[in-house]
Amino acid sequence: MILTVAVSGYRSLRDFVLPLDRITVVTGANGSGKSSLYRAIRLLAEVAQGNAVATLAREGGLESTLWAGPERFSRAMKHGELPVQGVVRSETVSLKLGFADEDYGYAIDLGLPQPSRSVFYLDPEIKAESLWIGEKLSRRNELANRAGPLACVMNDAGQRVPVMRDLAAFDSMMTHAADPKEALELLVMRERMRSWRFYDHLRTDMEAPARQPQIGTRTPALASDGRDLAAAISTIREIGDAGLFEDVIDDAFPGATVGVQIQNGLFEILMEQRGLLRPLRAAELSDGTLRYLLLAAALLTPRPPPLMVLNEPETSLHPSLLEPLGRLIAKAAENTQVVVVSHAKPLVEALAGKRGAVRHELRKELGETIVDDVDAPAWAWPKR
Ligand SMILES: Nc1ncnc2c1ncn2[C@@H]1O[C@H](COP(=O)(O)OP(=O)(O)O)[C@@H](O)[C@H]1O
Ligand SMILES: [Mg+2]
Repeated sequence: MILTVAVSGYRSLRDFVLPLDRITVVTGANGSGKSSLYRAIRLLAEVAQGNAVATLAREGGLESTLWAGPERFSRAMKHGELPVQGVVRSETVSLKLGFADEDYGYAIDLGLPQPSRSVFYLDPEIKAESLWIGEKLSRRNELANRAGPLACVMNDAGQRVPVMRDLAAFDSMMTHAADPKEALELLVMRERMRSWRFYDHLRTDMEAPARQPQIGTRTPALASDGRDLAAAISTIREIGDAGLFEDVIDDAFPGATVGVQIQNGLFEILMEQRGLLRPLRAAELSDGTLRYLLLAAALLTPRPPPLMVLNEPETSLHPSLLEPLGRLIAKAAENTQVVVVSHAKPLVEALAGKRGAVRHELRKELGETIVDDVDAPAWAWPKR
């Protein structure tokens, strides 16, 4: 289980440390920074996929994702006696992301590129990384680190042993120094991060791929756009908890059943509902009904990942589905840690009462995301 997520310098998350629980519900007003937190965690997963620099570039590069406020707020600025203004930069520009689970912690520090004649002169660079044992990084518990092009691991005698001297500024030690002999922990942690699942925009529009028949193969994890819904449901039926899936559908749509029709290898869902003479095809389902099926297929995966993160799953759901959704998420959380970003009050309240659930309310203060009433876990960033 992940105990802590830390973000610094990413959008409105200037200096943000959040404890996670089995179910973590993140809520708050529009613009309070919920989606930024979701994206920050996804960016961490991208590091393990080797895509962090590209993802950042697609988001507009460091220039746009970096915290846009001043490095510090003076007292007069905080009390509104002085307008908020930039101070002369004394600290290096940096975007930092990290997390700690019950075994290890990992953090990465990205910064501005060195001036160069490369056509990629806008790419952010990975300046430092660290992997440690336990919750908070210190000199004594570090297992591996990276400073610029140099990646080192600690040997049994506690000495720093270089494993790579020419790591490119756009490559992470997680993808390029994770040697099973020399740095097994890097490999273990990378695989954990790679298996995190994110569901943000499960498409339900008229052209959504989930509405069309699709070639089906065994699908233990629903794709992030939901295109393989029918195959994922069939997979739950064959190797997952088929009875639970039926119960979940019945809980949300009393009397309804979901079937899968296969023609020439193309899988398509059919939903029988009370009062209808024939089942409805995916193309005919309402947005909300289809989204609920997508969420059920994602959450009841027969291969639960260590972490699942949902951004505003309530979108386009009828209010009467929010409590069943809360029960569905709680059921999934028996096998996987879940982070739910939501501003649907009934969902937040349904989840907050579950065992192992914690609720964090975000708010903005002088442009910065703040979370009240938390004992922020101890946290330290790697040094450049
Ligand atoms: N580079 C930045 N620096 C500081 N704040 C930013 C930056 N980019 C976006 N923001 C602000 O961050 C806030 C967070 O937005 P978002 O996470 O989408 O909120 P939510 O999902 O809670 O509605 C927005 O109010 C936006 O103005
Ligand atoms: Mg949002």
